[in-house]
Amino acid sequence: MSGFAFDAPTVIRTKRDGGRLSDAAIDWIIGSYTDGKVADAQMAALLMAIVWRGMDRGEIARWTEAMLTSGELLDLTDLRSGGKPLATVDKHSTGGVGDKTTLALVPIVAACGGAVPKASGRGLGHTGGTLDKLESIAGFTTDLPNQRVREQLCDIGAAIFGAGQLATADKKLYALRDITATVESLPLIASSVMSKKLAEGVDGLVLDVKVGAGALMESEAQCRELAHTMVELGAAHGVPTHALLTDMNCPLGATVGNALEVAESMEVLAGGGPPDLVELTLRLAEEMLALAGIDGLDPAQTLRDGTAMDRFRQLVAAQGGDLSVPLPVAAHSERVISYRSGTMGTIDAMAVGLTAWRLGAGRSRPGEQIQAGAGVRIHRRPGEPVAAGEPLFTLYTDTPERFGAAMAELEGAWSVEDTPPQARPLIIDRIA
Ligand code: URA
Repeated sequence: MSGFAFDAPTVIRTKRDGGRLSDAAIDWIIGSYTDGKVADAQMAALLMAIVWRGMDRGEIARWTEAMLTSGELLDLTDLRSGGKPLATVDKHSTGGVGDKTTLALVPIVAACGGAVPKASGRGLGHTGGTLDKLESIAGFTTDLPNQRVREQLCDIGAAIFGAGQLATADKKLYALRDITATVESLPLIASSVMSKKLAEGVDGLVLDVKVGAGALMESEAQCRELAHTMVELGAAHGVPTHALLTDMNCPLGATVGNALEVAESMEVLAGGGPPDLVELTLRLAEEMLALAGIDGLDPAQTLRDGTAMDRFRQLVAAQGGDLSVPLPVAAHSERVISYRSGTMGTIDAMAVGLTAWRLGAGRSRPGEQIQAGAGVRIHRRPGEPVAAGEPLFTLYTDTPERFGAAMAELEGAWSVEDTPPQARPLIIDRIA
């Protein structure tokens, strides 16, 4: 397509039929959708065409650029604390089940002297979102004006906020993808992640690209390509970007669901928590500190000496949250009991994510109210011994009529075996 007069049906048809979108067509459709001149139904059709037909690297770069310039850009170049310039660094995950690393990671890096302006999203498909998790803390606001983000970075080295003003197009596209089954697409994931992250104006970026059953893209080859695409987009904008490929066949940690995951993150900050969650959080922290040029500090020390927990408390207080109010607990629970003794086999992350979603932890309509206390607790992790009659999972919801569909979703997603499953490395590769 070429020329300056565009209409949505022609742009949709071009991609539907396997054509390439010109730079001008991309700029027009993103701009017009952001301004409300292209309807959700039209954008949904285009997104589905992109899911099927894909985009080449040039289209992805332009689509990302158009999203990036659809909103405000944070300028953090002059940030100082105690008279010294601040090194800004962020991390973003492509989304997984039980993936709550941000909640402990941001305070850890801040406690080590980095500054983390963490623009975050809501739940997407079967994966959870950091904003939904944090909003289960009474009073916590994720709606921060840019000036407030800057102040928090200078005062406590951290802010976690809705990316709304940055990459404005992404806010609309993200919500539309969530309810139109158009999440699982390399160009759409890469542009969504990188438009927000590049708008933050950070000095360095770490990406956690999830691989496996519970990831947005299952095959390792696709995930490698996604990681390379995003690392290149970062480099093209002068932002040093490293990606870790990490395993998401099994949920991360022992909880899935908003308030449950906040509680588990606070266990990590208190020096405990599940080993896989702690390992990944610390590895991401090391990558972020290296990019921020902060040498010679052990991020694990901040968990032992309580400085990361102090930062978390400061962050919550700065954003209006009140940790003296107990986290929401769902009104109803049901347990899955083991019928035999043995060893817990693998647990399918996708099925657990969908189970939590069916219990009310995620949305099926735009703007739908989610249940903060809904979710799944995993009592036995793969490889752990199981005795007959022991609970393996607890399911939580405020609306017990959801149990039937949720239990059906979980059925077949786990097994108790005679021998332990083959251990998989949590960190598969690093791409820089
Ligand atoms: N995270 C994002 O911000 N966008 C996606 O599309 C997937 C994960």
